[in-house]
Amino acid sequence: MSDKAILELHGQKHEFPIIKGTEDEIGIDIKSLRSITGGAITIDPGFKNTGACESGITFLDGEKGILRYRGYSIEELAEKADFLEVAFLLIYGELPTKEELDKFHSDIKSYAVVDDDIKKILDAFPKSAHPMGVLSSLTSALTAFNPSSVDVSSPDAMYNSIVKIMGKFPVLVAWTMRKKHGLPLDYGDSSLGYVENVIKMMFKKPHEEYVNNPIFVNALDKLLILHGDHEQNCSTSTVRIVGSSHAGLFASLSAGISALWGPLHGGANQAVLEMLKGIQADGGDTKKYMAKAKDKNDPFRLMGFGHRVYKNFDPRAKIIKAAADEVLADLGIEDPILEIAKGLEQEALKDEYFVKRKLYPNVDFYSGVIYRAMGIPSDMFTVMFALGRLPGWIAQWVEMRLRKEPIGRPRQIYIGENYRPFKTLEERG
Ligand code: ACO
Repeated sequence: MSDKAILELHGQKHEFPIIKGTEDEIGIDIKSLRSITGGAITIDPGFKNTGACESGITFLDGEKGILRYRGYSIEELAEKADFLEVAFLLIYGELPTKEELDKFHSDIKSYAVVDDDIKKILDAFPKSAHPMGVLSSLTSALTAFNPSSVDVSSPDAMYNSIVKIMGKFPVLVAWTMRKKHGLPLDYGDSSLGYVENVIKMMFKKPHEEYVNNPIFVNALDKLLILHGDHEQNCSTSTVRIVGSSHAGLFASLSAGISALWGPLHGGANQAVLEMLKGIQADGGDTKKYMAKAKDKNDPFRLMGFGHRVYKNFDPRAKIIKAAADEVLADLGIEDPILEIAKGLEQEALKDEYFVKRKLYPNVDFYSGVIYRAMGIPSDMFTVMFALGRLPGWIAQWVEMRLRKEPIGRPRQIYIGENYRPFKTLEERG
């Protein structure tokens, strides 16, 4: 097989090298395209065919339904590892030794407080504010109380900023929910595991002891692992592109949170639950909603279905579906919403429209059922996604900075007016 790609433009042939990944993926390296063709560019809306970088963090094969972090399969990680081990793996490339993990956790705990003035900022938000907007603002506000940039040439400075954000972010997540519920903004308990502590910080009432439910801890651990990273998706690309201007880590993360908020991306988990509740309130007729999803004149989409990359199945959805069944069974909950979700899935999997377009349930189709069982309100679902994605964003930001990637700056084909002389106000009539 040739290791070059040939492009013919205006009768002239140009050669471009082929880049091969460790899983034999190929890319055409067009770095020299503009210079050798005299300015031609490629157009690829939505970057459906464009690789923005080479990355060693996450591998996914959308046709085969494979997802691996640093070479380890998502199935094994979800079964055998905890979230903090996976966070370390994503950021540093290897699973931690016991000693490394203990140090990582203890350093994170040492930073698990935020400046008390952050409470004043949070106080200024109305209770009706969407938690994702609040979280993005508070993450950005952290830069006001911490160095706004990181010396990327110093491993110590990098390490400190990573453990800092890993420590402070769960506080912001919990406070975002507590503010909504009018609960006091307390800190966590450093004797607890990372995930246990998050849950306690979210739910602890001021007048009673909080006892963690191991079913919730296990379920959240799994959900956070499954959301840990997903290569160059919309929010991760946002983190990398903002960071490529040498904006600091916290500012880049804040931008990533905003990107994640949208219903076509992380916001889908909230949208799924609201859709399921809507179908239930409307009598539970799944067929009616299947018809709406297929009707091109109806803007309704089956939320939680379809994925830019997975065209076979989303391996995370399989794990989450089993976890949702397990959690509800362990808690003895019979949730009609889960039954509606299963009904929709069954219908979609045999429906020609969905089969032809390779639309399968994605990671968010069942996650909301688990969050709901845990008592997490639906507008907090995407915040929980952000908590899981944090190590992935950090890993991608670190990789981008250490590889000294250039500032992200796409090109365009201009389709506006050609030159026209300025008309004075009088001439414009
Ligand atoms: N319901 C109904 N039809 C759909 C759906 C859906 N959920 N998703 C895609 N389609 C249809 C489109 O209308 C289009 O049909 P056409 O070829 O007749 O025009 C075709 O399938 C391809 O869809 P695109 O939007 O072009 O696919 P793309 O890869 O750009 O989008 C996306 C992927 C955004 C995830 C899309 O499937 C979607 O909107 N799904 C619902 C939202 C959702 O669940 N998002 C979460 C994704 S996972 C995540 O970000 C964590």
